[in-house]
Order: sequence, then C-alpha cells, then structure tokens
Amino acid sequence: MSLVHVFFSLIFGTLASLIMSRTIHETSIVEKREQWMVDYGREYESELEKEKRLNIFKENLEYIESFNNGGNKSFKLGLNEYADMAQDEFLAAHTGYKLQDYPTLSKSTSYMYENFSDFPESTMAAGLDISFDWRDHGAVTPVKQQGKCNCCWAFSAVAAIEGILQIKTGKLISLSEQQLLDCSTNGGNKGCDGGLMTNAYDYITQNQGITTEKDYPYLEIQEACDLVKQSIKAATLNGYETLPVNDENAMFKAVANQPVSIGIDGSGQAFRFFKVVECLMEIVAVI
Ligand SMILES: *[C@@H]1O[C@H](CO)[C@@H](O)[C@H](O)[C@H]1NC(C)=O
Ligand SMILES: *[C@@H]1O[C@H](CO)[C@@H](O)[C@H](O)[C@H]1NC(C)=O
Repeated sequence: MSLVHVFFSLIFGTLASLIMSRTIHETSIVEKREQWMVDYGREYESELEKEKRLNIFKENLEYIESFNNGGNKSFKLGLNEYADMAQDEFLAAHTGYKLQDYPTLSKSTSYMYENFSDFPESTMAAGLDISFDWRDHGAVTPVKQQGKCNCCWAFSAVAAIEGILQIKTGKLISLSEQQLLDCSTNGGNKGCDGGLMTNAYDYITQNQGITTEKDYPYLEIQEACDLVKQSIKAATLNGYETLPVNDENAMFKAVANQPVSIGIDGSGQAFRFFKVVECLMEIVAVI
C-alpha cells in the first residue's frame, strides 16, 4: 500500500514540476516581451496583434537561446528591434542588394592594392593578431538606419565614399543616401526595391559629385531627384574598382587601405539577431 502511494506521489510530483516549469517558462517569455516592448518603445494597435506578435517573439527568442546554447559559434545572438518580426517580414523590409539581377557584374582579377605588403599573407591566412578598425581613424560616420526602404546599396556606397574622403582630406562628412535613392536610377537601380553600389558610383562619377546628408537628408522613401540639391558637390569620385571574388587576402589588402563596400547574405536568421562577435577577424573584414 505504501509502495503504491509512493509511486503515485512520484508521478504526481514529476507532473506538477513539469507543469510548474512550463508555466514559469511561459511567464518569463511574457515578461521578457514586456521588457523588450519598453526597451524598443513598441506598441501594438490591438490585443490580437499583440498576441500574434507574442508568438513570433517567442519563436525568435527560442531560436536565439538554442543558437547560443549550441555553444560552437564564433558569435552570439540577442534580442533586437526585429524580435517581433517573422523572418519573411524581415527579409521583405530590410534587404535589397540585387546581385542576382546583374549576372554580368565585372569579375576583376587585378586591383590597385594587390601589391600592398604591410600584412604578410601568412599572417592574414592565419587570421590572427591583425586588428584594424577605420572607426579608430575617424573614417566612419555613426551607424545609419535604412529603415523600411531597401536601399542598403546607397548606404554602402555612401559609407565607402565617406571613408575614402576622410582618408584623403582629413574631413569626415556624412553624405547623402537620399540623393542616390532619388537620382541614381541608372544601371537598373530601383530605389527602395534594391540596387547596386557600382551603379551608385557610376552615377556620382557622372554627376561629378555627391552632396551631404545635411543638404539632402534621408526620407526612407524614394522621391523625384532634386536637381538643385544634386548640383551641390561635397565630394567627388574619380573611379572605383571591384575586388576579385572569394579572395580574403584581397579583402584584407583593400580594407587595410580604405573602407570597402560589400554585400553580405543577410537572409539567414542568425544574421538578423547577430549580437556580438567573438572573433576579431570578422570585424576587420566588414569595416
Ligand atoms: C565545433 O566546430 C568545429 C568545426 O566545425 C568542429 O571541429 C568541432 O568538433 C565542433 N565542436 C563541438 C563541440 O561540436
Ligand atoms: C603588382 O606587381 C606586379 C609584379 O611586379 C605588377 O605586374 C603589377 O602591375 C602590380 N600591380 C599594381 C596594381 O601595381
């Protein structure tokens, strides 16, 4: 009799603790979401929307936690402003480099920094003991946000020009993405529907310059090209070149000399919640 009793209470105990831990888990998700809403100033139009977003938040949180607990990656993920968006919503709103639309983009083999030898190639290959960050040299403006307009191509082009301008002149000037968005429709650039940095460079070369962020501020939508603002020149461009594909040494040599425009595949879910890198080399390659 007492054996039966022990048996039952054991099962009951296990069940109860399972229910308990599940409830605690759910509660902590709700609490995390509430805190997240405060942190990012998020409000929802209806209870229905709030509930729907909670489910998406929960799936994203579980993904982030299981990724971080996997323990074998050089970087960690964390909650950010995109934590209540489903992956397809995020991709629709926040990408925009249309490489697949331009199959003939030139593939270079030779480039101007190919003989740069400050970093021996063996050291580069090991990826160790090299750290160079253009932010420390004043060549990078604070992070800008493209918002809901897929013109990453314009931001990337502008950042590289801001960098080389500072290196050449010592002046760091924030330049206009909006000018590119409105006026660089050459080469198939499609404003908020994507484009290429090289088309933006062609436009700036042909226009004989680009104006400042201050003169032609970012609006998050494409408008008609402002011909007056377009004629103000804060920086000019003599030319550009593309780096050989899949060549890390080429990327190192170029980045060691100036910031470089790159396109990276941002479609993976891990990329969306990227928080901190534990490996220096990846930072060097990006900036
Ligand atoms: C981590 O990844 C490396 C390289 O992919 C692999 O060799 C190693 O066995 C992995 N370690 C664990 C604990 O999974
Ligand atoms: C790099 O060096 C090689 C061999 O001396 C030379 O042929 C090439 O033109 C150089 N490249 C540049 C961009 O100066």
